[in-house]
Amino acid sequence: MKIVAAAALLQLCFCATAAVSGNGSTETALTAAPGDVALLPCYTDGNATPTLTAWMKNGREVIRGGGSSPSPSPDGQRLAVLHDGSLEITGVIPGDEGSYLCNTSLPGNNTFRARVLLRVTSGPENVSTSIGPATALSNGTLIAYRGSTVSFNCSGVSYPSQQLTWAFRGASSSNESLVSTSGSWLDFRIEDIQPSAQGVYSCRAHNTFSHQAVNKSTQLLVYYVPDRHPECSWVPAQDPSHFQFICTWLGAYPTPTLHWGEDQGEQGAHWKGRVNVSEVTDSLSLRLNRSMLFDGQTLRCMAGHLALAPEREKSCSFTLKPPYPEGEPLATVQEGTSITLTCTEAMSTPPANTTWRKGLQQEEIVPGSKYVLHEEGPVLKLTILNISKDDEGYYFCRSENPLAVRELEVYLTVRASSAYTGAIIGIFIAALIVGSAAVIAKTLYSSRHQICLGGGFGQIEDRGDVLSLVESDDEQIFQDAVPRLPPLTNGRQTTLVQIHRIPSSDHEDAETADSSPQQQEETVQTEEPVDLVTF
Ligand SMILES: *[C@@H]1O[C@H](CO)[C@@H](O)[C@H](O)[C@H]1NC(C)=O
Ligand SMILES: *[C@@H]1O[C@H](CO)[C@@H](O)[C@H](O)[C@H]1NC(C)=O
Ligand SMILES: *[C@@H]1O[C@H](CO)[C@@H](O)[C@H](O)[C@H]1NC(C)=O
Ligand SMILES: *[C@@H]1O[C@H](CO)[C@@H](O)[C@H](O)[C@H]1NC(C)=O
Ligand SMILES: *[C@@H]1O[C@H](CO)[C@@H](O)[C@H](O)[C@H]1NC(C)=O
Ligand SMILES: *[C@@H]1O[C@H](CO)[C@@H](O)[C@H](O)[C@H]1NC(C)=O
Ligand SMILES: *[C@@H]1O[C@H](CO)[C@@H](O)[C@H](O)[C@H]1NC(C)=O
Ligand SMILES: *[C@@H]1O[C@H](CO)[C@@H](O)[C@H](O)[C@H]1NC(C)=O
Ligand SMILES: *[C@@H]1O[C@H](CO)[C@@H](O)[C@H](O)[C@H]1NC(C)=O
Ligand SMILES: *[C@@H]1O[C@H](CO)[C@@H](O)[C@H](O)[C@H]1NC(C)=O
Ligand SMILES: *[C@@H]1O[C@H](CO)[C@@H](O)[C@H](O)[C@H]1NC(C)=O
Ligand SMILES: *[C@@H]1O[C@H](CO)[C@@H](O)[C@H](O)[C@H]1NC(C)=O
Repeated sequence: MKIVAAAALLQLCFCATAAVSGNGSTETALTAAPGDVALLPCYTDGNATPTLTAWMKNGREVIRGGGSSPSPSPDGQRLAVLHDGSLEITGVIPGDEGSYLCNTSLPGNNTFRARVLLRVTSGPENVSTSIGPATALSNGTLIAYRGSTVSFNCSGVSYPSQQLTWAFRGASSSNESLVSTSGSWLDFRIEDIQPSAQGVYSCRAHNTFSHQAVNKSTQLLVYYVPDRHPECSWVPAQDPSHFQFICTWLGAYPTPTLHWGEDQGEQGAHWKGRVNVSEVTDSLSLRLNRSMLFDGQTLRCMAGHLALAPEREKSCSFTLKPPYPEGEPLATVQEGTSITLTCTEAMSTPPANTTWRKGLQQEEIVPGSKYVLHEEGPVLKLTILNISKDDEGYYFCRSENPLAVRELEVYLTVRASSAYTGAIIGIFIAALIVGSAAVIAKTLYSSRHQICLGGGFGQIEDRGDVLSLVESDDEQIFQDAVPRLPPLTNGRQTTLVQIHRIPSSDHEDAETADSSPQQQEETVQTEEPVDLVTF
């Protein structure tokens, strides 16, 4: 048994086995790769130098040469008989495989024969994979996006035959053979790819003859983003001079980049770049000094992610608006009953902190047995129970957001209960009658000589109008609780007159009471000096 080594130019290994042939000579199996230099041995016993050697391949003579003078090969110089009779094949090619027989003449009339079985095998070579559509990271990892269809192809060259196998190793499967073929390429595809398909895909090319194997592994990541937009929310910061906005976008892989910025409006251009915060996170908070906020400002949170197509922008925003509490400015209630004051704050962005306050000092109303607070969406209701005269006065619905504080002023008028009023009026009328009778009697008695009635009653001013006279030149407003004559003016000077009607307790109807000095203003502008204004 002999082991014969053949020189190799390439990195392939040789597997050589030897067997004794039935007729006394030896038979050797030799494996070579294309490009190798193969050396086929002949007479290896003893020291004798063969005089003449003939090599046959598959029964046909391919070369004949003598020991001391190696013969040139007729076959493109690839074959040569060396001085010891062995056959050298330079640059083995597929097709060189076969059964070779050497027949050599040794000195002393001896003949020696040997058989060599040459196999040519190669590969796997040029094993390559392609996976797509996918984006490559710098480290070779590929990225596919959830929902897409991803094709996998693997090819390789092996001689004489090969087996290609795609295998997958993921979070849920250690290594799973997907498909296999004996062809030169193998492809498959995954439709609507899901995160569970994330893992390492390897293509293994196995030369079924030489048992050489090559595998190519590629990590594939499946990126995804949620369908929804980010959520913009807000919380007051501990520090009252600041406000905190929060942008949250959960469910994206890998972690997205969130960016807080400002829409470039007319005003926004002035603030360009003041709000510009980016971070790789799924929840980004933005803390702003209130002095950086203004009415109409649009703060926007944009999500950035590789899995987001440029035209499918995901963002949330809000446009800041100052609060605007709305409701009836006047309310009238009867003593002993209860009343509900209603305030609606639907404008404020971010939502305002809306509270009910009482009196000009604006003391905050604490809910209890007297006051019941009830909130229904944007509507904040204040119910005052067991109304007494003390409850009369100003109430404020105070609404505050980072931009501004605004108040709705409500004046509550408390009427005495009707029975009580009736009694008071009755007593008053009775007293009036009695008093008048007494006065008349006394008057009649004291002015027995001249009885003069009339003239005085018609001049009684029973209106509560107030004149406010304004010199529009200096835009100063004068208000007075008593009727007042306009000042004497020289020439044609413009005078502005503001009339405030003082609430009349005689009016039963709240609508016509027109009571609040702030609410009812009538303005007359005239070119002439005003001598007298009546309504
Ligand atoms: C030697 O054996 C081979 C096959 O092993 C055969 O083809 C050949 O004819 C034999 N030669 C002799 C001389 O027996
Ligand atoms: C080879 O073998 C044959 C007979 O099988 C013989 O005639 C011949 O002389 C041998 N030697 C050479 C170099 O061919
Ligand atoms: C060599 O062999 C041939 C026949 O095969 C024979 O005629 C010759 O005599 C032999 N020579 C010697 C030296 O044995
Ligand atoms: C492998 O690829 C190289 C270059 O791409 C090419 O020259 C060579 O012929 C290929 N080998 C096989 C066996 O296809
Ligand atoms: C390649 O980079 C990505 C992201 O940077 C990482 O998640 C992945 O593990 C890396 N892959 C390899 C094989 O290093
Ligand atoms: C796979 O790759 C091989 C070699 O590059 C190519 O010939 C074959 O067409 C590919 N198959 C598909 C389905 O793309
Ligand atoms: C899975 O891995 C084991 C060893 O880790 C290996 O023996 C087996 O061949 C692998 N299967 C596939 C399909 O790759
Ligand atoms: C691919 O080769 C690596 C080593 O290079 C081995 O750990 C892995 O199991 C092989 N995969 C397959 C599917 O053969
Ligand atoms: C935000 O800042 C980045 C650099 O940190 C800059 O490239 C970008 O232009 C800025 N955006 C605006 C609107 O100023
Ligand atoms: C808020 O901004 C104003 C004006 O830019 C500044 O005077 C004030 O110090 C800031 N407050 C804080 C707490 O930074
Ligand atoms: C609203 O304002 C009151 C005081 O005005 C304060 O006690 C309360 O904590 C504020 N609520 C919120 C949610 O800021
Ligand atoms: C209503 O208020 C009066 C005093 O204003 C009090 O005496 C009375 O107990 C109150 N009634 C209820 C039911 O609270």
